[in-house]
Amino acid sequence: MIARLRTAILISGRGSNMAALIAAARAPDFPAEIALVLSNKSAAAGLALAKQAGIATAAVDHKIYAGRDEFEGSMQAVLDINRIELICLAGFIRILSAPFVTRWRGRIINIHPSLLPAFRGLDTHARAIAAGVKLHGCSVHFVEPELDSGPVIAQATIPVRDDDTPESLGARVLAEEHKLYPAALARVAADLAGAEERTRFAQGRQRD
Ligand code: GRF
Repeated sequence: MIARLRTAILISGRGSNMAALIAAARAPDFPAEIALVLSNKSAAAGLALAKQAGIATAAVDHKIYAGRDEFEGSMQAVLDINRIELICLAGFIRILSAPFVTRWRGRIINIHPSLLPAFRGLDTHARAIAAGVKLHGCSVHFVEPELDSGPVIAQATIPVRDDDTPESLGARVLAEEHKLYPAALARVAADLAGAEERTRFAQGRQRD
């Protein structure tokens, strides 16, 4: 059996995507195990939800550090202690530095509430309505140093209605996010675990 990848979810707020990932990972054949939920805000509602779900939690408050290097150094230490192999950003609002992202390249993914590359950044639903697009949605992508860039792993699309408000559109997109993110995590984790298994197999063969 292929080992389940030890995955950390990084949050800053309510954690509805986090909850969807935790629920999906309860299935015994899900290729990732949610081993940690880490927040930069100790009062994040998602942290309490994760605790209730019996998941290990940690808060690394960015405000107490002299700068981003120190903050990220602390996060890295917590990730290392928990033997994390894969990171899911789920409403994590701090911008991560290029060295941190590069260190995790291929092992850090994010969900963004738009059809990337359209509408990077904030207020995506209001901007989609203002632009008059007929289709909107969400994307899961690998994280690269540049904000909301990086190869797209999966997208879900929904029609924009004539009477949509940012709130009504956002609610329908969020429902899609909760289905898309677990599916995308499963794919990434299965690919990574499969690659590791193949490497181990090849190394074993070399030793024979
Ligand atoms: C979601 O809209 C996600 O796409 C964006 O931040 C929001 C997080 O919401 N990156 P939640 O904390 O998962 O409920």
